[in-house]
Amino acid sequence: MILAQITDCHIAPADHILTTRYRTSDYLADAITHIETLDPKPDAIIATGDLVESGSREEYERFRELLKHSSLPVYLMVGNHDSREGLRSVFTDHGYLPEDGYIQYAVDLGPVRMLVTDTLVDGQSDGRLCGDRLAWLESQLDGAPDIPTIIAMHHPPFVTGIRKMDSMGLDGSDGLKQLVTRFDNVERIICGHLHRPITRRFANTVVSTCPGTAHQIQLDIRDGLGLGVIMEPPAVYLHAWIEDEGLVTHTSYVGDHGTADVIYDVNGDRAV
Ligand SMILES: [Fe+2]
Ligand SMILES: [Fe+2]
Repeated sequence: MILAQITDCHIAPADHILTTRYRTSDYLADAITHIETLDPKPDAIIATGDLVESGSREEYERFRELLKHSSLPVYLMVGNHDSREGLRSVFTDHGYLPEDGYIQYAVDLGPVRMLVTDTLVDGQSDGRLCGDRLAWLESQLDGAPDIPTIIAMHHPPFVTGIRKMDSMGLDGSDGLKQLVTRFDNVERIICGHLHRPITRRFANTVVSTCPGTAHQIQLDIRDGLGLGVIMEPPAVYLHAWIEDEGLVTHTSYVGDHGTADVIYDVNGDRAV
């Protein structure tokens, strides 16, 4: 089982700077094409929020058009730039989306289970895992304590050192830590929001943030609240389940990086 993760697509209207300067729609199209051409092809895609820029129906329709080029099931969730109602109104055929309330659901990915969690606070950049949302997560974890589980959530539950982003962090991470500590089957907590790859130990699991499909957040861990975006190479994560081993996460860079020079052929024989 391979789960591809894309994040922070920030699809915007045609005349928006995110479209004209940062070309978020073009980059999402490239990411979809990239995933389609992988061998082996992943089993599913999780898009970990900030799917669009302002949550409008028009933006979700543009996002939906781009996703049509994927042959894989795509699971959607909300980030701080999203709107629950906007998402629901355009993806009515995505039957896993709850009809109302928080956008939280469980997905069976064969050997692995994914719990998608909603950290959106309407109108705010920071996120929250309130008592209701944590209670749902607890009930889901209690219901299948032996199945390897991925928790997907937009806001990472840790301080990254990129201070401006940390000021838009997650309220409720202590409660999450207490909860996850009770379980030994949480393979990974996968997040977005940071637009760059970051990893941290958290309780008895590992948390990672995924690079964005378009613009990245500049790496700046100095004092101060400055923040920049930079066109570092976009990437997708491939969370691969290896039997008797566990979940291994690969970074797969989108774009043209040439072809590999073969050192060993498929039989393991030296090719050069
Ligand atoms: Fe974002
Ligand atoms: Fe975000």
